[in-house]
Amino acid sequence: MLSTTPSANAPTTRRVRFDWLGRDTDGWHHALPEFGAAANAISLLMPHAEPYVIAMVRAGLDEGECDADLIDRAQVLVEQESAHFKAHRDFNRSLTASSSVAARLDWFGGWIFRQLAKRSTPFGLAFAAAFEIVAFCSARWAEAGLRQYFSGADERAATLFLWHLAEEIEHKGIAHDVMLAHPRAAKKYPLALIVAFATLIGFTIVGGLSLFGRKRHVFNPLRWARLVGWGFSFAFVVMPVASASIATGFHPDQLVDPPWMAMWLTEFDPATNTMPLWTDAGGANRLEQRTDTTVTDTTVTAA
Ligand SMILES: [Fe+2]
Ligand SMILES: [Fe+2]
Repeated sequence: MLSTTPSANAPTTRRVRFDWLGRDTDGWHHALPEFGAAANAISLLMPHAEPYVIAMVRAGLDEGECDADLIDRAQVLVEQESAHFKAHRDFNRSLTASSSVAARLDWFGGWIFRQLAKRSTPFGLAFAAAFEIVAFCSARWAEAGLRQYFSGADERAATLFLWHLAEEIEHKGIAHDVMLAHPRAAKKYPLALIVAFATLIGFTIVGGLSLFGRKRHVFNPLRWARLVGWGFSFAFVVMPVASASIATGFHPDQLVDPPWMAMWLTEFDPATNTMPLWTDAGGANRLEQRTDTTVTDTTVTAA
């Protein structure tokens, strides 16, 4: 964790569009509905959280002392986050249409970020940097248990979440750099980290439990034990990094990237406009370059 390792891939815009027509975005994880419920809570928050991050980074570019290289890198961050929240918005559409609980969570997520938008640019920039740290830790946690979490899931939905997490690794340090370029933002980081952590984790817990409460599996103690175990394992990943991130001289490039996701993104082929779908068929972490008609509706559009 102490060595400096910028992301293996230069951040690149990949506008992946998923067709959810006729797909069950509520029950996409048949094997682990409790995991699917928590992931869906996160998905419901993204169309509110990521536009806020984008707005704060843009405001930071206007108010801070950013050189041309940082402006270019921040533009890629904005494009990646835009692609993420639009993909989640599409995913969420049938979710909120079929579930009043999901619709209420969607409204609540919007309300939270409308309140945060009333705060200053320095706070918002610090929030964006902290949000990216939590996102990076989420990717690190997910990669450590890739097969455990995603085996048995709908391949397309798994691909949405993993593509998003993989790009969070790729742009892990950019919001932090924009924060440092602003004269007053870094001072707000400790408070913003607490708020970001409480917002993201709190919403995931409340939203995930609300969504899981509608499932017939809700009375299965094994599923609850698994949820608690995941909570502890995530805390084990995020707490040391979050604590380290408050120290003077910290930079996200000091965090070692999990290797598989970076490798997966290199499988993106702009020539054929294909992206490998996550699949656990045939072994752990196996990737298949799929060309058959059953998956061509996972359309990939090069930037
Ligand atoms: Fe994102
Ligand atoms: Fe991000």
